[in-house]
Amino acid sequence: MGARFLVTTPIPEPGLRLLSDAGQVTVLPEPPDYATLSRLCASGNYDVVLTQLRDVVDADLLAHARVKGVSNYAVGYNNIDVDAATRHGIMVGNTPGVLTDATADIAMLLILGTARRVVEADTVVRAGKFLGWEPEFMLGRDVSGAVLGLAGFGRIARAVARRALGFGMEVLFAPRPPGDRPVDDGELGEFAGKVRQVPWPELVERSDFLSLHVPLNAQTHHLVDAAVLAGMKPGGILINTARGPVVDEAALVDALRAGVIAGAGLDVFEDEPRLAAGLAELPNTVLLPHVGSATVSVRAEMARLSALNAIAMAEGRLPLHAVNPPVRA
Ligand code: GLV
Ligand code: GLV
Repeated sequence: MGARFLVTTPIPEPGLRLLSDAGQVTVLPEPPDYATLSRLCASGNYDVVLTQLRDVVDADLLAHARVKGVSNYAVGYNNIDVDAATRHGIMVGNTPGVLTDATADIAMLLILGTARRVVEADTVVRAGKFLGWEPEFMLGRDVSGAVLGLAGFGRIARAVARRALGFGMEVLFAPRPPGDRPVDDGELGEFAGKVRQVPWPELVERSDFLSLHVPLNAQTHHLVDAAVLAGMKPGGILINTARGPVVDEAALVDALRAGVIAGAGLDVFEDEPRLAAGLAELPNTVLLPHVGSATVSVRAEMARLSALNAIAMAEGRLPLHAVNPPVRA
């Protein structure tokens, strides 16, 4: 009998075709709740489960799971307890690389959109309140010449740096906030002499736009809290395309209300899909529904990678993109 795959949420082609060519595929009609997913993983009926960011794959689920692998349809994997998976000999795969540019585009869109007040401006036009060109109407902030601070310096942060340099921004970065690690010119590569590393507190103080590109983990949970927001420039704008819980969202609402910072562009939220009370009423925000990777071609590539990862794990091979060290299944 071929491999047996459990797909928690339908994914685009070529994902399902690749999986059905390799074995037997069960696609759940709607995203499972925790108890359902836990039961299905423990049933012994599936070799690999293909999960989404909304599926919580924690230590308890993994302790009872009878699967060889978990293939996450995402680059981030904070929904999975990877250490527990490793302990139980369960492989974990993800989909890096293919969504880097698309996500960097969304970060740039949020930078431009908050700077030039795109949501407010669009609302004015649709409400019939555009009464003609005026010298002091809907004035925003300059992007050229502004300081962009990148929290993190992985693939997506670098892709944002590339774009920001094209827009004439000054680019600073802190590679592993709130801590630090040295980045030499070799690692900087194409960015040597063009972007500058600074300690995290300096990044916070100097940025006109502070853009988050860190994974969510114990070190980065609430990386941006009330104290960090208070350390930003009053004209500062926070951009988050990483993970919601990296920001204390209630503290952000307070800071935006009180004018501690000037604005925020968010593609992710602390308790998705819910928003912190008051956030949606603030005019100085651009709010997107977690669409960093949402282009037709990127989602198809993610489907292809997650299917190939799943097939490899079902066959006892290491996935193309392995999150945990080799484990014996
Ligand atoms: C999306 O947020 C991802 O991690 O792929
Ligand atoms: C994620 O792909 C990153 O490295 O930024």
